[in-house]
Amino acid sequence: MGKGFMIVCDGSNGAGKTTVIKAIEEHLKSRGLQAVITREPGGTPIGEKIRDILLCPDTPEMCDVAELMLFGAARAQHVQEKILPAIRAGKVVVSDRFDAATLSFQHYARGLDIGLVKQINELALDGFRPDMNIILDLDPVLGLERVHQRGERLDRMETQKLEFLQKARQGYLEQARLSPSMFSILDASRPLAEVVSDALGVVDELIRRHGGQMAVGTP
Ligand code: TMP
Repeated sequence: MGKGFMIVCDGSNGAGKTTVIKAIEEHLKSRGLQAVITREPGGTPIGEKIRDILLCPDTPEMCDVAELMLFGAARAQHVQEKILPAIRAGKVVVSDRFDAATLSFQHYARGLDIGLVKQINELALDGFRPDMNIILDLDPVLGLERVHQRGERLDRMETQKLEFLQKARQGYLEQARLSPSMFSILDASRPLAEVVSDALGVVDELIRRHGGQMAVGTP
């Protein structure tokens, strides 16, 4: 059995990540592959506690470096406890957001020094990196409208100024421009079925690239 691989689904808030990830999970299972679905911040008991602190709208004012380090701490735990063991066992890990989000939100949007953000990411990743970032690209105005339509309460990050979310969006596009082989940008303003279909195409290409050597059967 070969090593597994990791796909990240990321992008604008309200762009349809949950639906796309569900479809990817079904698709992997239909191919007989073992999928581990996870998310950031979160994915482990410690990470989920950190998520509460980071995203709860009632969290008191947080300084930017504390925010960066909390995302980093959740990721370090996630990589060691869940991601690396799954990859070693030949599974396909699908994460709702990962390290690219830290560059987009904490550097491009928040304005923290890029060297500092990369340092925290590297510390958390411990030499690991995901195989592909599927970015659902959507104007945050439309994204927030969708969140409102679903009747969901905005989290602490979503209550930032629109300009902050616009900068984060540009951050993903810039990262994709700099590392095109690690990013697939999908226009999420289209009907969701088209976005899902494109995402599954990206997944199929990754499966081909890994020679179908991943673990098969039930987890
Ligand atoms: P979501 O999982 O519902 O999309 O919420 C996660 C929020 O946290 C989202 O607004 C993006 C933000 N975020 C960061 O600011 N930095 C990070 O490193 C990650 C993983 C998420």
